[in-house]
Formats: sequence, structure tokens, C-alpha cells
Amino acid sequence: MDAAAPVLLFDSGVGGLSVLAQVRKLLPNAPVIYAADNGGLPYGTKTEAEIAARVCGLLGRMSERFRPRLICIACNTASTIALAMVRDVLAVPVVGTVPAIKTAAETTGSGVIGLLGTAATIRQGYVDRLEADFAADKTLLRFAASELVGAAEAKLRGTPVDPAIVKRAVDGLRSQPRGALIDTVVLACTHFPLLADELLAGFESKVALIDGAQGIARRIAALTGGQTFNRRTPDLALFTRSDESLAALEPALQEYGLDRMEILQ
Ligand code: DGL
Repeated sequence: MDAAAPVLLFDSGVGGLSVLAQVRKLLPNAPVIYAADNGGLPYGTKTEAEIAARVCGLLGRMSERFRPRLICIACNTASTIALAMVRDVLAVPVVGTVPAIKTAAETTGSGVIGLLGTAATIRQGYVDRLEADFAADKTLLRFAASELVGAAEAKLRGTPVDPAIVKRAVDGLRSQPRGALIDTVVLACTHFPLLADELLAGFESKVALIDGAQGIARRIAALTGGQTFNRRTPDLALFTRSDESLAALEPALQEYGLDRMEILQ
């Protein structure tokens, strides 16, 4: 294994940075490529076929070009739809992002769990199976909060979050039967932990927010255990489309240690 081979984290946009933050804590020396398919953002309102084709195609190209030691699909929408397909076609280890329903079921006191994800994620059989396997004796209320994705993208570009968007997500859960009893909310989209402060305020701090980022980082650390890391170049933020708003994102990317930016050719 080349010590400079990167760990490649992939998302439709900035959401996977919430995973990168945890990866940095466990593997501070790992060379990282953070890849965002901003040309395809948002995934959450696309069809399964569109998402699967984009994710498989892009990860195939990126792994040929950058030879990562491991790929993390730091996106619930892409993982719940395309993880198995990507694993079938690529030889490199691939870690996915799974809604943290198991953890939520273990920690809820009221037995009523909320789940915020994109429209594409919350309709997946993958989520039904997690619910059946780990939360069969609980109530799981789902809400598609796709517009939080745009709010997180804007926040990292320096635009304040519109409280009305957060309120619609909170009301989307609270207004369902038994919704008033929710004490635990699964953030089943990697963009949403970037809005943790706003969401906690929206829920008046009456819920615990749970996401899978720490568990994913632990999995990546386990799979790369014993490997050596040598960062020969500054870590790269890779985008699939050049657009004007990328300049406004640079300060946030630098906070995550991404000091170079490139457009995938
Ligand atoms: N960050 C992605 C996820 O975890 C979704 C964002 C999008 O809709 O593109 O589901």
C-alpha cells in the first residue's frame, strides 16, 4: 500500500464534511480526497436510477484516477441506493453511511424516534429493514427534509439558515401521530449534522440528535488499521462542476483541512 494513497470521501455536496470531521479525529495523518458531486446535487430529489448511475460512474472514474486505499460514501441517499452496486464493481474497500436507527432505538426513553432524511432515503427498503431489525418495538416517524440540504450548503458558504426551513422539518415530525413524544432524532443525511445547532434550537433542546459519523470513522480506522499514512500534498476538495459559489466555500473547506480545490476532468 502506497503511504500517500488517499482515503476518498464522497457526497453530493458538503454533507460528507460531517463525516470527515470524525475521520480527522481518529486518523489525523490520513491523506484525504473529499469529493463532492455538486454537478448532481441534490441527490435526494432524484430517482434511484439516476443516483445509482451517477454514483457508480463517478466513483469508478475517481478510483481509476486517484487510486484511493478506501472509499467512504459519506451520503445516506447514495449509500442506501448504490452501496451494493459500487462494492460489486470496485475492488477497493467501500464504507457506506447507514441511518443510525440502531443507536437511536438503544437510547430512546419514550420509544418514539424521529428520522430526518432526504425524500429518496426515507422511501428506501434499506430503511424499512433497519426499522424491522432494530426498532420493531419502537415507533419510527420519518420526514423528508430535503430543503435542509440547501440550507446546509448555504450555511457553509456564509449564508445564515432560514429558521422557517428548520421549523418545517421540526413540524414535519412533531405533527405526526405520537410526534410530540419524539425524544431522539436520527439525522439520516450527512448534511444535517452541519445544522445541529439550528435543529436543536428548533426542537427546543427536547431531543437528542443522532448521526452515524463516529461509527463510520471507527469503521474506516479499523479497515485501515496497520497501514501507514504519508500526506505528500495538501488534501484535495474535488468537485464535478465549476460554479461561482465554490469561492465562498473555500474558508469552510480550509477549516476541514482541505487546502486544494480541483474540478474533476
Ligand atoms: N448528503 C446526502 C445524504 O446524506 C444528501 C444530499 C442530497 O440530497 O444531495 O443523504
